[in-house]
Amino acid sequence: MERKYISSPLLKLDANRETILEYFKNTWSLTELLFSGISKEETYYRRPYHKIRHPLIFYYGHPAVLYVNKLRVAGLLETPIDPQLETLLETGVDEMRWDDMREGDENLWPSVQRVREYRSLVFQAVCRLIETHPELETKNLPITHESRMWALVMSFEHERIHLETSSVLMRELPIQFLQPPAGWPLSMTKKKQTDFPKNHFIHREAGTVSLGKPQDWPTFGWDNEYGHEERNYQSFSTSSFLISNGEFLEFVKNGGYSEEANWSQEGWQWKRFRNIKWPTFWVADGPAGLHQFKIRTIFEIIDMQWDWPVCVNFYEARAFCQWKSQQENETHSYRLLTEAEHLALRDTKSLDPVMHKRSDAYNHNLVSGSESPVDAYPANDKGIHDSLGNVWQWCEDTFHPLSGSKPHPYYDDFSSPCYDGKHQMILGGSFISTGAEASIWARFHFRPHFFQHAGFRIVKEAKKMPGNYLYEGQEMVNKYLLMHWGEESDIHQNVPHTNAPFPQVVHLPVKCAQLMEQFSLDFGRALDLGCAVGRSTIELSRSFAEVIGIDYSQPFIECANKIKQDKRITYWRKDSGESGKEVTLRLSADLHPERSHFEQGDACHLPIRLGQFDSVLLANVLCRLEHPMNCLKRMQGENGLVRPGGILVMTTPFSWLEEYTAKENWLQGIPDVKKVLTEFELIYQEELPFMIREHARKFEYIITLASVWRRKPSSIQEPN
Ligand SMILES: [Fe+2]
Repeated sequence: MERKYISSPLLKLDANRETILEYFKNTWSLTELLFSGISKEETYYRRPYHKIRHPLIFYYGHPAVLYVNKLRVAGLLETPIDPQLETLLETGVDEMRWDDMREGDENLWPSVQRVREYRSLVFQAVCRLIETHPELETKNLPITHESRMWALVMSFEHERIHLETSSVLMRELPIQFLQPPAGWPLSMTKKKQTDFPKNHFIHREAGTVSLGKPQDWPTFGWDNEYGHEERNYQSFSTSSFLISNGEFLEFVKNGGYSEEANWSQEGWQWKRFRNIKWPTFWVADGPAGLHQFKIRTIFEIIDMQWDWPVCVNFYEARAFCQWKSQQENETHSYRLLTEAEHLALRDTKSLDPVMHKRSDAYNHNLVSGSESPVDAYPANDKGIHDSLGNVWQWCEDTFHPLSGSKPHPYYDDFSSPCYDGKHQMILGGSFISTGAEASIWARFHFRPHFFQHAGFRIVKEAKKMPGNYLYEGQEMVNKYLLMHWGEESDIHQNVPHTNAPFPQVVHLPVKCAQLMEQFSLDFGRALDLGCAVGRSTIELSRSFAEVIGIDYSQPFIECANKIKQDKRITYWRKDSGESGKEVTLRLSADLHPERSHFEQGDACHLPIRLGQFDSVLLANVLCRLEHPMNCLKRMQGENGLVRPGGILVMTTPFSWLEEYTAKENWLQGIPDVKKVLTEFELIYQEELPFMIREHARKFEYIITLASVWRRKPSSIQEPN
């Protein structure tokens, strides 16, 4: 018997009027189906326990409001349907932190009856539009990015996003407020089971992946999916299965949630704030020490399914990696996938499964009503199970635009506010991702403390890690704290060799800030790219009104933020082996750390929202980048980081290494840099010898080349 699918395949942009109408009705009815799981009216007004989202009444009305508002922006609807609701239910929430709770708006919300009636009016208006509008005549198809009808398909896909996010909010409500809707897809469950498959690692050789949805691909895409990049990845090994509940139980049993060393600083704060002891959708079923659990699905509490993938947030996924790394102390460490690696694991077939009728090769598009066993679906041709679907997969990358992507004018703030280094990417879709969300092109993101139906797979690496992960770890943080903030006596003057050959070394982060101050003409905004633990950024707060420090390494950023907040930090200066000295740094009173702002980010993918700066510092970053030329090009052009007339201070020892930068991307000295920085003139150069101390008898002595560039004022565009 042919299986019945409740979610249609993703709409093609050349579909005829009837198919578009059918897709709209399918989208709409999925929302109705989900909300029919609400068993009593008060559920609509019940805030999720974390209180960082609106109650469900907002999310019931909000997709309908978006149809009206976007169709009006596109000129396809002339008048509002209910102006009051269309303001009240327009904007959702993107909290800053887990404790960024909203209170006191309980009386704002409309009655369920009113929202139902409103939805019905919107449904009729959209049906009428689809049935009658001349732009949907065959001769005017396909719908393109420039068509007004882009607003219509955008509204379909927006509603499908909220189908998933509302389902998570329901999963977070007490079970008595819900019931499984009649017709909700079944789950792949076993009655009682303790087994889960043993994970194993699949090796991939280094390679290149192409990112970005072609502009003319025949389905709708969100702005962040377009643009194009070729990205290299190093060889890596990753788990064939998603991490299962059973595999995660080991972490729980081993005290993973109570050992601070497993957690990032922010992750630990979140964990303590919430007093979390196991994954959020596990339900204790007996005394705590016995580790007996059931599992919460969207609508039910059922026997624990140990072979389902674990649903956790980014902090928990990272803590699991850290714990596992410590288990294999000497040999291996673990982390999450990068976006490029995730793409490298996909099936080689170029089809986008959600565009096709039989989309049951993966657990997505509501083939199932919940997660499924991690070995339920066959491995793809790379040996990977659930390369798509089942649960989203947390990635190491923060959300960023692809080169050449632009916001769509009908929804220009869809992605850009989240290119802030504070949203982690999730890829692959989940069982309830439908439409464009379940597409191979989907790129989504959430704050690291937030829950979706998301889990992870792990990457295993030899302990000496390549690339930017080299900068992780407390020892590295201590080394950079000393280099940035140490007294001269701590850095090198206590060297036991009186004849040690360390003449005239500069204190590099301080010297860089001095060069910025010396050559800058204006002191509005400064950017410190590759700021590490933040000395130059905070030094610059003396003279600049606003200074932004960005680094790829989260531990560096956490450390810089701590210094900013506490105006002090205590760290360990290693002398030899385990001997050393605790050093406390206190910021001097003439600094203004409150003018500084630190964020994690990738120098090759900097968001447009950063704007322009009077002065940009690029200190010893260039030869640690995958695409140094892209970073330099980002300094100039229409949205260039350096404003016309502004200054770029760059230091680099040109220490190229293939583990960071493919050979063809190496720049051989200033002449090569000149070829890229076409809108700049070189105004100053200086050799700067400096040292990084490893311990009392081991120092790295580096002579970096400082160069100062001024962006030509002639590149100022005349105002119209
Ligand atoms: Fe929305």
